[in-house]
Amino acid sequence: MIALPDQQLVPFLQWALPRLGMRWRGFRKVRRQVKRRIARRLDALGLTELGDYRALLERDAREWAALDACCRVTISRFYRDHGVWRHLTARLPEMARAAGRELRALSLGCASGEEPYTLAILARELDLPLRVVACDVSAELVARARAGRYPSASAGSLPAAWRTHAFAEREAGVLEIAAPLRSAVAFFVADVRRLPLRTRFDVVLCRNLAFTYFDAKAQARVLDALVAVMAPGALLVLGMHEQLDDPRLAPDAGGNLPVCRRRP
Ligand SMILES: C[S@@+](CC[C@H](N)C(=O)[O-])C[C@H]1O[C@@H](n2cnc3c(N)ncnc32)[C@H](O)[C@@H]1O
Repeated sequence: MIALPDQQLVPFLQWALPRLGMRWRGFRKVRRQVKRRIARRLDALGLTELGDYRALLERDAREWAALDACCRVTISRFYRDHGVWRHLTARLPEMARAAGRELRALSLGCASGEEPYTLAILARELDLPLRVVACDVSAELVARARAGRYPSASAGSLPAAWRTHAFAEREAGVLEIAAPLRSAVAFFVADVRRLPLRTRFDVVLCRNLAFTYFDAKAQARVLDALVAVMAPGALLVLGMHEQLDDPRLAPDAGGNLPVCRRRP
């Protein structure tokens, strides 16, 4: 694989990302994955220079979709940002009681399923009626999520009892999600920029995706789409470094937790 020094990669991304509706700021600390994918793409095209790749993008509009697919950061883990999960543990039982029905949750940019399965695990531990719908733009990640097999390190932060109930260890170091949890989550492939949903949800998780990597215009469009699928009073959970200031939303959690609630 060809080497892409930062002196070439950074200016290239600063030029290309805004054309994809994304912003360089989000990628600064996590550009290694993107660098690897772009290097692989150049290899596949028989190119050795980012300058040549830029020229290709300028003359062939179809190549932008391939670059878009390179610009995805797929890092995730079970029980990521535990304060948020503790907040949901406190909030969801009263929401279920008030709703008097099964709660509906949506996980956007669900990677290999770590986030939606964490929610399903939490609901099972609390004996809460909750179904999760989860999507990612990557068909490969959605297939992995459906398979539900993980290296044991990815579940290292889960409370120990939850981990024991949630997984079977079929081979050393590989955890397989338990069948009832698998059936509590429905996965599909979708781009958060074009959400094909009509259902209203009680909890929406959109963490470490739109509000980190997208530019202001794309973020505003995603936020409109999210508000449209949130029931009044629904919770919106963001990534720890993401913030929204929107009159349709009110802060839900005290302290620094990125959880807000849709105003009625
Ligand atoms: C950094 S991971 C976050 C995973 C999880 N939400 C979390 O916080 O741990 C971002 C995920 O969003 C997905 N993604 C990127 N662009 C997307 C898009 N336009 N629509 C839907 N998913 C997208 C990536 O494939 C990746 O799995």
